[in-house]
Amino acid sequence: MGPRIWMTRREKRHVQGPDPGDFAGNAVDWGRCPADEANLVAGAKVYKEHCAVCHGFPGESKGAIALGMYPAPPQLLHGVGVTDDDAWESYWKVENGIRLTGMPAFKGQLSEKQIWQVSVLVKNADKISASVKNELAAGATTPMSMAMPSGSTAAAKK
Ligand code: HEC
Repeated sequence: MGPRIWMTRREKRHVQGPDPGDFAGNAVDWGRCPADEANLVAGAKVYKEHCAVCHGFPGESKGAIALGMYPAPPQLLHGVGVTDDDAWESYWKVENGIRLTGMPAFKGQLSEKQIWQVSVLVKNADKISASVKNELAAGATTPMSMAMPSGSTAAAKK
């Protein structure tokens, strides 16, 4: 990993320096993943499966995991989130993780395309469409009961 050219929200509060946005375009060709409906919906699928446990869903309060972390994971689909960062900046954070925090590196776990799609989603979190909302909501509730449908009709049919 080369020198870091971005800062997290937490660091921006404490550090004076150039806006990392000034470096936009240096690192990656972020034009490859347009913020169209297909990419945003695919990003929502990645988000609900891999990010929401820490970064939350729109309109929901933080769960026990997010509340127990320091530094706290920012709510990415609430308010500003990281909409003021370029998508490539979030791409790097998601790919490499953030050292000494709970933010995991997803390189090797998610494809480059998936990382782009979720980065474009969090960039556009202030304009979430109905189909993105549906994707976030689909299957996002009570994952444990879906994984272990004991006593449910699904289990009884087997
Ligand atoms: C296990 C918890 C956890 C998971 C899962 C997780 N994150 Fe994070 N993430 C964090 C924490 C904690 C921070 C704050 C780090 C800091 O303040 O330095 C963070 C920070 C970030 C930031 C930087 C925010 C900023 O202020 O610049 C982005 C972007 C981000 N995460 C995106 C994602 C995406 C996208 C996913 C899913 C692919 C994801 N994270 C999954 C815990 C998590």
